[in-house]
Amino acid sequence: MGAMAGDGAVHRSSRSAWRRLTFGLALLGLAVLVAVAVASMLWPLVEDRSNVDVPFEARGAVAQRFSAFGLDGWLVRQADGSVRAFSAADAHLRCRVEFIPVGHPLYAVRSTWKGLERGMFVDRCMHSLYDADGKPLYGPAPWGLDEFLVHEVHGGRLYLDLSRVMRGECSPGLSSTQYCSVPGRPRFGEPARVDEGYTSRFIWPVAIR
Ligand code: FES
Repeated sequence: MGAMAGDGAVHRSSRSAWRRLTFGLALLGLAVLVAVAVASMLWPLVEDRSNVDVPFEARGAVAQRFSAFGLDGWLVRQADGSVRAFSAADAHLRCRVEFIPVGHPLYAVRSTWKGLERGMFVDRCMHSLYDADGKPLYGPAPWGLDEFLVHEVHGGRLYLDLSRVMRGECSPGLSSTQYCSVPGRPRFGEPARVDEGYTSRFIWPVAIR
């Protein structure tokens, strides 16, 4: 009788130890899950986007696309060999902007316009037009294309600061210059992603190569 009571006590204590272990493991699992969720939320804030290496063809076309960290843009070669990097999200509703090189069928439509000798940017949705320096020339875009700062172009490597953008140039006569740069007074802000949902509502007539 005494031995059976002893066995029962041993069973109960091993069951409660087992419960404690299961509970502890469940708690640990939960803590790991919470830590992973918090880390993934904070990751975009802590990752370093200030010196991002993007592919660049040293002897390529005037303009090349790039994409990194969910941001899209265009690298535009300058006459002196330097490169400027513009956001592909247009200033109005973040529609995707395409670069139209000289000689492209769409370029012919505006080829006589002054300032478009190196090609032009057109937004897919409302067809706002910008020169190769991202300056707005036509359409509802209230300011020019935002620009990423280029740290270095060296030996076929190009390094960009994707942590912020220099806001595009304000269109003349704009009532508020709160979100754009006026000459000599650059304004910086958060880079914007292209709104693919909005862009895809519009049918773009010609393939861009
Ligand atoms: S969406 Fe580009 S100008 Fe309106």
